Amino acid sequence: MIPILDACCGSRMFYFNKNNLVYFNDIRDYSDTLYDDRKLGNYPDTRWDFRSFPILDNSYHMVVFDPPHLLKVGASSWLAKKYGKLPADWKSYLRQGFDECMRVLKPYGTLIFKWNETDIKQTELLEALGAMPILGNRGRGNKTFWLVFMKESESDG
Ligand SMILES: C[S@@+](CC[C@H](N)C(=O)[O-])C[C@H]1O[C@@H](n2cnc3c(N)ncnc32)[C@H](O)[C@@H]1O
Repeated sequence: MIPILDACCGSRMFYFNKNNLVYFNDIRDYSDTLYDDRKLGNYPDTRWDFRSFPILDNSYHMVVFDPPHLLKVGASSWLAKKYGKLPADWKSYLRQGFDECMRVLKPYGTLIFKWNETDIKQTELLEALGAMPILGNRGRGNKTFWLVFMKESESDG
């Protein structure tokens, strides 16, 4: 069993080693050329919607969640092509995605969440998720930050 699920892998830019420990999912499967001629490619193992995975509960040791973070970007801009664009109902969109990532995590599994505050601040994001990370950086100065959540065991009450 592959231990890590990337819920929305895009072009897998932050991996040091794109090895066989990770199952790569993304709703889109595309390739394109950016304005500066750079190639952009996204070839996931599956194209599931992160709001509804056809995966059993408690399946993965780790889930990586780097959802779209841009709201005020043109739908056909290269930023939207690269990172996707959030819908107007982004709060419920991300909450459903987050809850679904938690569902497929094993108890005490970790959820690695990446975010960028260009359009939505960390406090607003955490309010929408209805959850508090164990640790992470706060994004001051640098708009991109990482948060680590853990799925608690039901027996913890
Ligand atoms: C910020 S990008 C991910 C970037 C990626 N981590 C990388 O290193 O290149 C967000 C990704 O979420 C995907 N996405 C958006 N909505 C989705 C959904 N409902 N289910 C699965 N993937 C989704 C987009 O297609 C996009 O590739």
